Amino acid sequence: MPPETERRVLDPAARARLAALCMLPDPRPLAAWDEPRTATLMARAEVLITGWYCPPIPEAVLAAAPRLRLIAHTGGTVKGLVPLAAWARGIAVTNAVAANARPVAEWTLAMILLAGKQAFAAREAYRTQRRRWPQGIEWDRIGNRGRVVGLVGASRIGRLVLDLLRPFEFRVLLHDPTLDDAAIRALGAEPAALDDLVGRADIVSLHAPSLPATRHMMDARRIGLMRPGAVLINTARGALLDHAAAARAVADGRITLIADTLEPEPLPPDHVLWDLPGAFLTPHIAGSIGTEVARMAEAALDEIERHARGEELRHAVRQEELEVVA
Ligand SMILES: NC(=O)c1ccc[n+]([C@@H]2O[C@H](COP(=O)([O-])OP(=O)(O)OC[C@H]3O[C@@H](n4cnc5c(N)ncnc54)[C@H](O)[C@@H]3O)[C@@H](O)[C@H]2O)c1
Repeated sequence: MPPETERRVLDPAARARLAALCMLPDPRPLAAWDEPRTATLMARAEVLITGWYCPPIPEAVLAAAPRLRLIAHTGGTVKGLVPLAAWARGIAVTNAVAANARPVAEWTLAMILLAGKQAFAAREAYRTQRRRWPQGIEWDRIGNRGRVVGLVGASRIGRLVLDLLRPFEFRVLLHDPTLDDAAIRALGAEPAALDDLVGRADIVSLHAPSLPATRHMMDARRIGLMRPGAVLINTARGALLDHAAAARAVADGRITLIADTLEPEPLPPDHVLWDLPGAFLTPHIAGSIGTEVARMAEAALDEIERHARGEELRHAVRQEELEVVA
């Protein structure tokens, strides 16, 4: 991994733990596969730790690492980073996707709670009108009690959001085509077809992966099904949302959009969404950042520890998962 990633990911505590867990023949990370040290290090390596901006592992490098048993990625997806040859050789692969789910779920919870109180609209109305009860807010409709939240995707993040919502008095609908109704009920949510969910929820939050099947899952027709005044939260991927259709609905004042992921990202400088008060856009910060990054290294170190003890990995990446578009 580049030195900048190492500085962000491996803090002194992680470094100390790493030194206690493994023999580190060279404390400096490899920043490129064509470094002269690569051959000697990979000939000995049993565990390879990678991180954000690690260049894809060439098959030749893997072939020259006969002792390699585990690749522990301190970042998210390993798609495009780890060649399929790793699975073919039985090298275990793990990543920190689960650790990265937590800040996204926390962010989503915060957005749901604030959206339920219409904080974004109230702030804008207050700022512009400067009076105690600004006009344009439906005060009787504000509040989180009894609010219907629709979660799209029982993904790692979707499930964590569901858990975080438990202490509140929401009614939670969940759509996930990979689960049957019984499985969704067992998670503690009410199963709903996507159109039904979109039409009933006060707040719709997207947690599905970016796949050909999920591209523009929120298109003009589905956005049209949303309740007037409803809120759409996208922390998943911009590809899930038709941004032109969303911009029209936000401009009409029909919905509020809270988006941490966009398409393209960032939007073009003249995109209409930038200036609409009903659009709350953030620069892809829901996932691990700042103080949260250390959690991803901890997750990788936990996996290395399990591997060293001969235990099963908790977050092993299966080859099939690479079919998901990142
Ligand atoms: N904003 C950020 O910083 C940030 C950070 C991490 C992840 N993400 C994004 O959040 C989303 C969820 O991430 P994750 O790691 O929880 O995903 P994940 O890999 O756990 O998602 C896979 C699951 O999604 C569900 N799913 C599959 N197809 C679906 C469909 N058509 N509709 C609804 N659900 C479907 C299934 O339950 C499947 O098991 C992804 O789009 C990911 O890229 C964003």
